Amino acid sequence: MHSRFWLIIALVFSSLLAFGQNSGKDAEGHQWWQHAVFYEIYPRSFADSNNDGIGDLNGIASKLDYLKELGIDAIWISPCFPSPQVDFGYDVSDYEDIDPMYGTLADFDKLAAAAKERGIHIILDFVVNHTSDQHKWFLASKSSRTNEYRNWYIWRDGRGPNQPPNNWTSEFGGSAWKFDPPTNQYYYHFFYAGQPDLNWRNPKVESAMFDVTRWWYKRGVSGFRLDAVDTLFEDPALKDNPQDSEKNALGDFKQERIYNQKLPEVHDALRGLRKVADEYDAVLIGETWTNDIAELNKYYGESNNELQLPMDFLFTKVDKLSPAEFRKQIAAVNAASGWPTFVISNHDIERSYDRYGDGHHNDEIAKLMGALYLTLRGTPIMYYGEEIGMKTTPPTRKEEVKDPVGRVGWPKEKGRDGERTPMQWDESANAGFSAAKPWLPVPPTYKTHNVADESKDPNSVLSFYKSVLKLRHTNPALMEGNYVPVNESDQSVLSYLRTYRDQTVLIALNMTGFMQKISLSKSGFKSAASLLATSKSAANGDTVTLEPFGIYIAQLAK
Ligand code: GLC
Ligand code: CA
Repeated sequence: MHSRFWLIIALVFSSLLAFGQNSGKDAEGHQWWQHAVFYEIYPRSFADSNNDGIGDLNGIASKLDYLKELGIDAIWISPCFPSPQVDFGYDVSDYEDIDPMYGTLADFDKLAAAAKERGIHIILDFVVNHTSDQHKWFLASKSSRTNEYRNWYIWRDGRGPNQPPNNWTSEFGGSAWKFDPPTNQYYYHFFYAGQPDLNWRNPKVESAMFDVTRWWYKRGVSGFRLDAVDTLFEDPALKDNPQDSEKNALGDFKQERIYNQKLPEVHDALRGLRKVADEYDAVLIGETWTNDIAELNKYYGESNNELQLPMDFLFTKVDKLSPAEFRKQIAAVNAASGWPTFVISNHDIERSYDRYGDGHHNDEIAKLMGALYLTLRGTPIMYYGEEIGMKTTPPTRKEEVKDPVGRVGWPKEKGRDGERTPMQWDESANAGFSAAKPWLPVPPTYKTHNVADESKDPNSVLSFYKSVLKLRHTNPALMEGNYVPVNESDQSVLSYLRTYRDQTVLIALNMTGFMQKISLSKSGFKSAASLLATSKSAANGDTVTLEPFGIYIAQLAK
């Protein structure tokens, strides 16, 4: 009776522990998204099924098996909704449809069903701050001062002839106000002029936006990545921001955006979005550009009632292989009030391959960084191509630039095309992305870094990612364990433990181009059994030797 009881408990426990992709909580009270590995897909650049040079939903569907085998549990698809593509989809003209260039709603449903079959969740990108200037709400709003949608956006009189209402500048350059001659008023756009800001102070806007999320939840979406949440609210009195005498790369005077960024009201909106998300057991990821942990904490909400996964971009600001810097940031995020979320690349920032690569050991360093953010306590959000060591490849001539930011800021600011180049599938023409000329050029590195070749090479970046992801999904200490830093004064090797019940896993990462040794005895361990290591990294008793940029992940014993 007794042993039977314990057997059942053990079975229940292990199935909960291994619940992988189902919802519900595991034995530690963790939800699926706390153990999931997320993967950002920039749909234009992932896989092109109809050979028009632009990736699409059927293209994504054709790669689900690849993603499954890689070890991905959830895909976040950057905006695939109807859009004039002024900001490549971040200017949405209809929240409840799919842009024909990416497919149809039926294609989306097929993709969702195929993903579900494989236990992969779908996260969509919700552009909450603004719509396209072609959205029907904005067209109505613009049509006259008395239109019922006028107050859905932010319209104001100028300060005088040819003078915008205040000094606010757009993130993409120039004034944040655009004059509309027919109604003789300005509208506000934090980003491009084709991206007018919604007026979140209008309850109708709020409820319409909440309904958009419901609409997609009902279609099987597991959550949203919320775009640009910092900018949802503006000071109603439109006070001028304090301005520097120095200019930014776009030629505008630098400003402290105290009146149009991170206003406290943002949190009311997030709480509202979370309430709806909770009705559907959904997860909210946030694009949260925070300056410190105190700010990050605010995004979790006072009682964890805002974002489950505010992205820690401070982690991406650690711009060199510095154990001390990473230790500091990891410790800070671990002490935050919610579950950590680690990001090292995305469609707006230089790829990690270039940020950390030294030009000689880039592949080794790519594995090292993979070993880092995929073994931490927290949810990693990968960016497509990281797993094969894709490189940032910015345009070389102004005429080639597609990103509005790069067109305005050239040559100081080359824009974001470099991190959005087509996924490198194989060595064939256009890297197997498309039979037609891709919308952005394929980087020359596709000959050496592509899925097909790297799948065959056990030493490739891809093979390493697969191994570390497999370990992450099966090792209880990596799934559930605490993060415990060790050897904290070591300037060369970043080491930490993940501890769970009686298990301890060591992760040791040599961040230098020289051989290094670390001792386990200081942390009270006598031996190590390797779980995953680079070929010349090994333990001998309580000493671990790491080759240059070497990785050593092992089960420790006392
Ligand atoms: C976010 C997106 C970025 C976009 C901007 C405006 O920062 O990540 O790509 O340009 O919002 O929507
Ligand atoms: Ca296409």
